[in-house]
Amino acid sequence: MCGIIGYKGLRNASDVVINGLKRLEYRGYDSWGMALIGSDMNVVKNVGKIGEVDEINVGEAHIGIGHTRWSTHGKVNKLNAHPHLSCDKKIAIVHNGIIENYQEMRRYLISKDHVFVSDTDSEVIAHLIEEHMKTVDFVEAVRRAVNELKGSYAIVAMHKDMKYLVGAKKDSPLVIGVGENELFFASDVPAFLEYTRDVVFMDDGELAVLNSGVEIFDIETGKKKKKDITHVDWSAEQASKGEFEHFMMKEISEQNRTIKQALSHSRDTIEDIANRINNAFGIFFVACGSSYHAALTASYIFSKIAKKHINVVVASEFPYYKDFLTDRTLMMPISQSGETADVLQAVKTAKEKGTHVVSIVNVVGSSLYRQSDYALTMNAGPEICVLSTKTYTSQLTLLTLLAYACAGKIDEGKLLLERVAKEVEELTSPETRIRLVELASKLKDKKNIFVIGRGVNYPTALEAALKIKEVSYIHAEGFPGGELKHGTIALISEGTPCIVLAPNDETREEIISNAMEIKSRGGYIIGISPENNEVFDFHIKVPDEGIASSILNIIPIQILAYYLAVLRGCDPDKPRNLAKSVTVK
Ligand code: AGP
Repeated sequence: MCGIIGYKGLRNASDVVINGLKRLEYRGYDSWGMALIGSDMNVVKNVGKIGEVDEINVGEAHIGIGHTRWSTHGKVNKLNAHPHLSCDKKIAIVHNGIIENYQEMRRYLISKDHVFVSDTDSEVIAHLIEEHMKTVDFVEAVRRAVNELKGSYAIVAMHKDMKYLVGAKKDSPLVIGVGENELFFASDVPAFLEYTRDVVFMDDGELAVLNSGVEIFDIETGKKKKKDITHVDWSAEQASKGEFEHFMMKEISEQNRTIKQALSHSRDTIEDIANRINNAFGIFFVACGSSYHAALTASYIFSKIAKKHINVVVASEFPYYKDFLTDRTLMMPISQSGETADVLQAVKTAKEKGTHVVSIVNVVGSSLYRQSDYALTMNAGPEICVLSTKTYTSQLTLLTLLAYACAGKIDEGKLLLERVAKEVEELTSPETRIRLVELASKLKDKKNIFVIGRGVNYPTALEAALKIKEVSYIHAEGFPGGELKHGTIALISEGTPCIVLAPNDETREEIISNAMEIKSRGGYIIGISPENNEVFDFHIKVPDEGIASSILNIIPIQILAYYLAVLRGCDPDKPRNLAKSVTVK
């Protein structure tokens, strides 16, 4: 997963490209580079994060491309950083995706005397375009080159002697920003949001030329296509940190508002989707990571509130389930980015079987948004931190509301969730945060942290563990309360911390006794609960809201994870090895 950007306009291209890469850094940040056309083609490449760069002086240029990398092929070094160039150094390309037939292409191009300087798959694109330019013009050369590629790509290419950019898309995101006398390519809208909110969302199999205007072509046929311009309602301010030091804490603190925004859909919309769920024969929630945890939580809520069985499947496992699918099955993919490759693959599989697809997605215009029969938006605004926080609770909010709507109790559900939104504001207040700084300082040097929960709080325990480990690098594991004693309890020794999710519901008595089993073996018990209990060594109080405890219980853990990262000197917004949108399988 990388971030790519292209610019053509009246501004200083170097500033626009660097600024855009900084806003795309959450997509990958092991190295970065850019190419600008001024009096000549200037190329700059570096290992490390673009975020540490103030400015680069490469002379005046009004057209350029840039790339921030999450490596898939080839080590993290300058040679493998993008842009990649043709032999004659006249063509520069940036690429996000994986070229599956790059070795075959590389062998063919070497047989045509092309010389490669990197170990990446992407470099073949520059040389392939160069090879085709022996017989056709630049745009046609790009079209023919990408037609020969297998795998996934979002590509932006430029030529030293041409004052325009060419982009092409298949399975990796690529959007076009349309400004006043300026045009942008980018992997995601935040890269150019401060300059324009008018966007053309490219589809797979399309090639675009940004010159005096936008021209879109079908890659296969070369025929021109018409595309609409969408005005997105995100503001640049939403995609900036404001007074917060990190996006992670900003986005955690927004949750009282984003839960309300998730509830802003009309009654008709929610009831329409509830009807689709009620009329389906077999329902599959499909997701990855935190979105999968939200889906798993929802399966308990649908069972409890709507007496409905939901199949929940990790997206990468879905292809092994496809034989169940019929044209009466309902698939509900859940994805913040709408670009997760495993989710998109599952949707493709489902549509081949005639399955109806209703998605829950945050990014308007994303691939999932456009490939679904209906897309229910989370309305959470851009989530820049690599970790999913506000969009996780937005997903839980919408899924809980849908469960109530399926049971014909939409008003009851809305009242509960509006109350929860207010209570979340209290949970993210500076006073609560201080308590969690205290806890983080106790846990920051621990090697293992365990989390247990039952019912809707079993998936919450999984999400809690994911939050802690992916941002602080402390090993954390979530378990159903009754499961720890089936083996892992062997790891409990004096002082091993265990977070216990203990709402006032049917699970309380048993989860408290699970806590006692751990405590009797030396465990340090952190209780997240509406009431304290003698088994807790540290108690974090949360409101008592029954089935909505999964939303309330995750808030203090998000904050704890943040402070663990900060105290351990980790970057909460850009954890090592991760990227915001996993656009490769
Ligand atoms: C969340 O903290 C993780 N970074 C990750 O698991 C994420 O939830 C997962 O990759 C799914 O992303 P999506 O919701 O955009 O599909």
